[in-house]
Amino acid sequence: MVSEARVLIAPSVLSADFADLGRQVRAVTDAGADLIHVDVMDGMFVPAISFGEVVVDAIRANTDVPLNIHLMIQEPENLLSTFAKVETDQVLVHAEACGHLHRTVSRIRNMGNPVGVAINPGTPVSAVEDVLSMLDMVMVMSVNPGAAGQSFIPQSLDKIRRLKGIIDQGNYDTQIEVDGGIKADNTAIDSVKAGATILVAGSAIFNNQETIPEAMKGMRGCIASAF
Ligand code: DX5
Ligand code: ZN
Repeated sequence: MVSEARVLIAPSVLSADFADLGRQVRAVTDAGADLIHVDVMDGMFVPAISFGEVVVDAIRANTDVPLNIHLMIQEPENLLSTFAKVETDQVLVHAEACGHLHRTVSRIRNMGNPVGVAINPGTPVSAVEDVLSMLDMVMVMSVNPGAAGQSFIPQSLDKIRRLKGIIDQGNYDTQIEVDGGIKADNTAIDSVKAGATILVAGSAIFNNQETIPEAMKGMRGCIASAF
């Protein structure tokens, strides 16, 4: 099993106060975010439109931690350089959104950026298996993409376990990321036990019940209790 220090927290700014975005991004950076998860939604792949290039640029200007850019975009291929402006930006595309997944993954790799592929709750592990060895991360969607604040789908844990088995067997250097409904409770603990090493958390980090540092501390404590 990986050590506690290797489990990364990626707060999702989708739940941040957008009227105060710069300050929120700085606050979560200061509180120890390992990555900043950025949800780009196009109104086609998912019903909602979130934000585009201008906002991603503004987020990048307010942090020095790598962006973990979740492209919920139909056929993202033509927009890769719009969002991956620096080589440390991690680019995640959806298996369901790419007609030629291997080609899209290869393009991102050739750009020099870390690359990930996300799969929806209804998409089998086999959709990503043949590109797994090329990926820095595979992202298990533990909610149907499109909105923050949804409940974790328990079947996601089995999917994480199966992916972990394939990654271990192939001796791939691919991390498992989980996105959706992760709180400082069993959803985080069980995901880590199943093999996830990157936890995305939106409403668990940006909410009215606790400060950002308190929420980050709670999530770290939870991760520690998984070991
Ligand atoms: C959902 C997004 C998630 C979302 C997570 O479509 O991809 O990243 O912001 O929010 P929570 O953690 O509140 O489920
Ligand atoms: Zn996301």
